[in-house]
Amino acid sequence: MTLEFLWQTGTAAGFTGDAVVAFAFSDRSLDGVLTGLDEISGGIVGRVYGGKAFKGEAGDLFTLPLQGGERMGILVGLGPQADCDRLRLRRAAAQGVRKALGLGCTDVAIAAEEHAPCGLEAAVEAGLIGGAAGAYRFRRYKSGAAEPGVERLTMISSTPVAEAAQRRAVAIAEGVAIARELVDTPPNDKTPDLLSRQVEDIAARSGLSCEVLTADRLRQLGAGGILAVGRGSAHAPAIVVLRHDGGEGPWHGFLGKGITFDSGGLDLKTQDGMLTMKSDMAGTAAVVGAMHAISRIGVKGRYIGVLAVAENMTGTGAYRPSDVLRMLSGDTVEVSNTDAEGRLVLADGLALLRSEGVQDIIDLATLTGAIVVALGTHRSGLFSNNDDHATAVLGAADLAGERYWRMPIDPEHKEALKSSIADTKSTGGRAGGSSTAAAFLARFAGDTPWAHLDIAGAAYREMPGDAGPGASGVGVETLVRFATQG
Ligand code: BES
Ligand code: MN
Ligand code: ZN
Repeated sequence: MTLEFLWQTGTAAGFTGDAVVAFAFSDRSLDGVLTGLDEISGGIVGRVYGGKAFKGEAGDLFTLPLQGGERMGILVGLGPQADCDRLRLRRAAAQGVRKALGLGCTDVAIAAEEHAPCGLEAAVEAGLIGGAAGAYRFRRYKSGAAEPGVERLTMISSTPVAEAAQRRAVAIAEGVAIARELVDTPPNDKTPDLLSRQVEDIAARSGLSCEVLTADRLRQLGAGGILAVGRGSAHAPAIVVLRHDGGEGPWHGFLGKGITFDSGGLDLKTQDGMLTMKSDMAGTAAVVGAMHAISRIGVKGRYIGVLAVAENMTGTGAYRPSDVLRMLSGDTVEVSNTDAEGRLVLADGLALLRSEGVQDIIDLATLTGAIVVALGTHRSGLFSNNDDHATAVLGAADLAGERYWRMPIDPEHKEALKSSIADTKSTGGRAGGSSTAAAFLARFAGDTPWAHLDIAGAAYREMPGDAGPGASGVGVETLVRFATQG
């Protein structure tokens, strides 16, 4: 079931669906959208707002009847006005729509907050993207009668929202949902062959060109990294290449880690460590979602998305610790741990993008457990060989309301990868594990401006967040904002 987006100019009084979500600051009195809601709630909003029941602090939620119980009102707190940014708005919208979903509402509206310091347009975009995230459910494998879900999301604003902003917001919301569905799909239904086919279908619908490099082609190319990782699996690896050609100029490269299941290989993971490893293709999923949105928006510029897809298993052909691989770039790599498979598939992806002559690269990967230890699950690591490119990506992340933190790649991190028999080892030990992983990738990025986003923490959550459990869709919006520059 796909979510339908509608636009309405005016006040919440004209909405005839099931529930209206509205926002409130903790340091403002009744005005704007809330005045209108106060009128159609018979004064309830005015009585509760600012009191014990609903202060408007971030996370506060208050449900009330509107128009004599014809529909629900859902007030969501934003906290102080000065702290209000796209992230807060997106979260609050997700929280409100999730509440509506829980109440069984199918036709939900969000009344955009005109006073948002980021401006009405950004507020509406964040509201729609957050609201759509809150409405997301993954029910493909649930038998029995379907529980009702949110089918329509109406954005209400006092003044019309520019069509370009509408289109951008819807495209991003769709891209995020596409990414989340791919990540939530169980690993037996997204083996490299199956995932490639799903991406081909998405590309066909999105208007992207799509080429699948199967194992034979990868052998011809000499992509020894991804081939080695895939060798322990009954399902051969593939590299999928998506293209959006929006006119002239250089190509920009996106690259996603696409391990459809990471058992660790012969350096087998623990039971706990393996449990969420269907999400090890979240980088690939983010690239697919972003490329979909970029195509739907009709971004001017050229974008190529490379998906390095393999399953890391322990079959009889499995690659071993101490194997030496010859990579697509020509470099040799001594495998020091088969659970460090992501960097091997990405190394070949980077070499492929460089052979395409791309101007810059952003890769996304659930690469290291160490980044989760360092930054938590709400923030991802950014590593780069180029300050200007890093700044551009951080700027895009800011517009997206996604959080990244720049991490170092020091000469010492590169030093830790020295091998006595090959050009490099694949791992550098426990210390600085995310930086040594990035240092490995940096070799293959060469002098192409490159940013690596380690999304291992933020990509997947076992406990429900504002927008539900499972895949988060992290990275999609940052890539899109990088392409749209706004
Ligand atoms: N896919 C994992 C990283 C990961 C861990 C993602 C936890 C999400 C949550 C990756 O392939 C991996 O196993 N990395 C190893 C590297 C080590 C062997 C150098 C790790 O982080 O332990
Ligand atoms: Mn691994
Ligand atoms: Zn992995």
